[in-house]
Amino acid sequence: MRAYKSKVVAPIRLPDREERAANLERAGYNAFELDSADVFVDLLTDSGTGTMSQDQWAAMMRGDEAYAGSESFDELEAAVSDVMGFDRILPAHQGRGAENVLYGALVSEGDYVPNNTHFDTTRAHIANAGAEPVDCPVEGALSGDRTFAGNLDVGKVRDLADDVGADRIPAIVVTITNNSLAGQPVSVENLRAARDAADDLDATLVVDACRFAENAYFVREREPEFADASIAEIAREQLSYADAVVMSGKKDGLVNVGGFVGLRPGDDDLFERARERAILYEGFTTYGGMAGRDVAAMAVGLREAVESSYLDDRIGQVRRLGDMLADRDVPVVRPTGGHAVYVDAGAFLPEIPAERFPGQALVCELYREGGVRAVELGSLAFPDTDRPELVRLALPRRTYGADHLEHVAETFGAVAERRDAGEISGLEIVDEPEMAELRHFSASLRPVA
Ligand SMILES: Cc1ncc(COP(=O)(O)O)c(C=O)c1O
Repeated sequence: MRAYKSKVVAPIRLPDREERAANLERAGYNAFELDSADVFVDLLTDSGTGTMSQDQWAAMMRGDEAYAGSESFDELEAAVSDVMGFDRILPAHQGRGAENVLYGALVSEGDYVPNNTHFDTTRAHIANAGAEPVDCPVEGALSGDRTFAGNLDVGKVRDLADDVGADRIPAIVVTITNNSLAGQPVSVENLRAARDAADDLDATLVVDACRFAENAYFVREREPEFADASIAEIAREQLSYADAVVMSGKKDGLVNVGGFVGLRPGDDDLFERARERAILYEGFTTYGGMAGRDVAAMAVGLREAVESSYLDDRIGQVRRLGDMLADRDVPVVRPTGGHAVYVDAGAFLPEIPAERFPGQALVCELYREGGVRAVELGSLAFPDTDRPELVRLALPRRTYGADHLEHVAETFGAVAERRDAGEISGLEIVDEPEMAELRHFSASLRPVA
């Protein structure tokens, strides 16, 4: 049940079928190129697309726009310290800004960086620093025991160190929840094991914490040690093992823009290197590319994100969508993760081979049939990696209601009918950017028989 009511509304409109087909063609069969005014239910991302609370809007009015030493920064610093346990922060305009600040200071040419699974911008930043991003998910993560399917395979990290030498692994990253692996959670036990490995290899343990509150919710549900703990306690506990966090506030900061790097007081050398980069690329260290009002809103949002009533509604909504799709025989990854329902497009459209991008074909059909926008996270987004052909339906926070979810489920039904009639074709790339890691953002495609 929603623990809030609507106070501001934004109209949405479903263009007719012909218009949708024309929009798809004009967008080069790439959902990132669609205009939001032409999208009815927008599940492209949960990043920065949520609805802020009245307390956040009130905080925005009080935002201190001073270039240096703003009160809003003090509020954010206090919130990060209370909620996440990090006492030193460097604000950034969003998560990838924080990644640029931290990884540029931590990682060098020729290094290797293991991660439970790199998100696309993380992969790109590690590669941009001249290092090799190495995915270390647990074997068969999505087919075996899914209690904590997002976990890092610490054994693989240790094997990597044996192969390349521990001195070439400056950082181990754990992404909570594991966005690229169906938003599945990571256990505290796994974070403890990652800590041990980081100590043994003399590496910095970084947690990509953008969905830390959602992860804490699953820990309370599934890790017996924490059954009676509060979300706030678990949130701090799981992050206590990290030396640093990178945070996109656009997720569990409950804001439309913003992010930060969190560091421990002890590591002055790393802090100084990161601080220099923050000033160079983001802005002075008390605003980091955000307006003071955005900083103020994030300070409030971080505290709201660990409230149980909010998370019950949030995770419950994702589960309901997953159940509605499964009831219609759509192959969804279950149990669902925190922020999104992931559909196995390879299984849903078995006639379309990987090189014809079944995930992207499904994304296009969801728009064509119901004006629903989703995102492909398979062989288009992650070229040359052996990933399942997933399509993600990410739910913006506190935004859509049950009738919107019903519309999405019905749209899947309409796509299934077209599939059964043999009307859905695969796609080929017409044009793509130089940086392969970023191709799903801007590639253009066309249908092929
Ligand atoms: C796990 C993860 N890390 C980093 C980022 C990058 O954050 P941003 O979009 O704020 O740059 C994202 C964004 O979706 C993410 O999911």
